[in-house]
This record gives sequence, C-alpha cells and structure tokens, in this order.
Amino acid sequence: MQGRRVLVVGGAGYIGSHCALLLQEAGAEITVYDDLSTGYAEAVTGRLVRGDVRDRARLETVLQEGRFDAVMHFAARLLVGESVAHPLAYFDTNVAGTCALLSAMAAADVRTLVFSSSCAIYGEPRTLPLDEAHPFAPVSPYGLTKLMVEQVLDACREREGFRIASLRYFNAAGAHPGGRLGEAHDPETHLVPLALEAAAGWRRIRLFGRDYPTPDGTCIRDYVHVWDLAEAHRLALEALWAGQAGRAWNVGTGTGSSVLEVIAAVERVTGRSVQRDDAPRRPGDPPALYAKADAIRQDLGWIPRHPDLEVTVEHAWRWLQAPRYGRYPRRP
Ligand code: UFG
Repeated sequence: MQGRRVLVVGGAGYIGSHCALLLQEAGAEITVYDDLSTGYAEAVTGRLVRGDVRDRARLETVLQEGRFDAVMHFAARLLVGESVAHPLAYFDTNVAGTCALLSAMAAADVRTLVFSSSCAIYGEPRTLPLDEAHPFAPVSPYGLTKLMVEQVLDACREREGFRIASLRYFNAAGAHPGGRLGEAHDPETHLVPLALEAAAGWRRIRLFGRDYPTPDGTCIRDYVHVWDLAEAHRLALEALWAGQAGRAWNVGTGTGSSVLEVIAAVERVTGRSVQRDDAPRRPGDPPALYAKADAIRQDLGWIPRHPDLEVTVEHAWRWLQAPRYGRYPRRP
C-alpha cells in the first residue's frame, strides 16, 4: 500500500473517514472528495477536495490530476425511511452519482474501485445466515439503489476493464479504537449511538417492535465494528491490486444481537440505565439479519478483530465522551 494514491469519495462520512485513516496508516496517500453535506471536515484524512459525486466533469479533473491507483466510493444517501418518502433523491445521488464517478474513472483510466454496498439488497431473509447467493429483494428504494449499482458494477467489471470489490455491510457500529473518529450522523437514526445518548441522559430510546418472532421479541442485527470494516476495505484493495477482478462480499461478524441485547451491553459499558419506550415496528425492518461472511474470510483472510459487541459499544462510548466533531449537547 506504501505510496499508493487513493481517492476516497465520501471520505468525510462515518465509514469513509475510518477507511481513509486506516489506509493512510497502511502507507497510502489519501485524497478525500466530499461535499460535506453530511460529513465533517474534521474527519478528513489527507487532502480534501470539495465536490458533489454527481459532478462528473469535476471528478474527471480530480482523477486526471491526482494519478490515482484506486477509488473508494462511500458517497451515498443512507436513510431507509427517507428513501421511501423521497426515492428520486436516492436514485439521483446513489445511482446517477455512481455512474458519474464510473464514467469519470473510465475517462481518467482509473479502473480499480471498492464500493460500499449493503445487506439491504437482500430484503426479507429467506434463509439465515445470509450468504452472498441469497436472492435479492430489497424492500426500500435505498436497498434498491445499492442493488442497481451492484448490477452496473458487474457490467463494468465484465465489459469496461474494471476491477471492483463491493462490500455488503451489515450494521456498522463503534468508533476508531483510539477515539480519533466516530459516528456523528445528524439526525442520528442508528441504535448504538442512540442507546448511548440515552445512557448519557440526552434522550429516551424507542424500541421499534417487541413482538418479533425472536427469542426476546426485538430485532436481531449483525453489528460489525467500523475499524474491522475499514480493514476489509484495505484487504479488498490489496486483492484488486494483486490482479483479482473482484466480487461482492458480505462484511459482518456472523453473530446477531437483539435490540435488547444491545441496550444491555450499553448499560454494562456505561454503568447507566437506558430510558426506553415501546414503539410500533418500523416499516421494512426484518426480524433478523446476520451474515455468513465465510467468503471474505476465505478469499481475503478478513477476520473481525473486534467481534465482541461490548468492545464495539465501548469504543462508541469513548467517542461520545470526547467527540471531535458533530452536534452534541455536552459531554456525558
Ligand atoms: N432500533 C430501535 N430504535 C431506534 C433505532 C433502531 O429499536 O431508535 C432498532 C431497529 O428497529 C433495528 C435495529 O435497532 O431493529 C438497528 O437499527 P439501525 O437503524 O441502527 O440499523 P438498520 O438495521 O435499520 O440499518 C442498517 C444500516 C442501513 C441499512 C440497513 C439494512 O444502517 O444503512 O442496515 O437493513 F440499509
């Protein structure tokens, strides 16, 4: 990785910023391309170029001038509920934006890409754990945009000479183990930060559904540490540079935790109670989602270093106690 130039599109956001830092620590030279619509300048590693992912001409200039060895693409809208209400904005940013990026990459002859995909492309699981061969039936426009992009990427891999890895994330959580970066969405919708904010006394949390067909009645998800996700990107990039054409890989721990288990972990880590209220099910939430991630282990040697939910929560709590950016009322 030493001296390799990587353009991290969407590198000011939660997952992109962690990946950029990990790649820099591995020796890469990082440029972040981000419009800062949801990301933070303070989260950026390396040089920041401000721009929109749909701005093909600007991307082409940046790519041509930077002589990059690869692109990592994180720039996307990610709120499932919002995608149901405003699907067009999601097709525009997530699908048209990726097409603009791919065209700019082809024009600049940079044909190595790691793409942020999602387990949302599978929809309601028919079998668990979910492996990569599970049928695709996204239930939200958000999931559909990720599936559409994967199909575009397949064509680019087959016909346009691209090498591409798509990483299908399960639930990213946690923060940089040293506290340099963390999760700071605005609005925050994710369970781990919301439960921690409730432990800090800033809010109450709603439990979206207590009547699911799971052992404790709450939804089960696979919470993967964001630093482990970042490591998956590094390994994927190395494989592409070694000559592999790439493919789609699930990135999850393989273990599911229920909403109540997450809250219990938050209470143990913080030593505080999480004030909660029962609430109706959130539309489109399947009862359980967890990964079969054998392929990425076998193909890339990826092993989650932080598989323990409590460690993930601990790192997120450390961040919340001393955040370097984001909008928070005060320290817990
Ligand atoms: N939940 C609550 N209360 C909250 C927030 C979440 O009970 O206030 C529950 C949800 O119902 C769900 C679990 O906690 O069962 C996790 O919810 P998140 O919103 O943290 O994460 P999701 O599983 O909905 O979303 C994640 C990614 C999305 C991706 C989706 C695919 O963040 O980008 O997985 O299913 F689309």
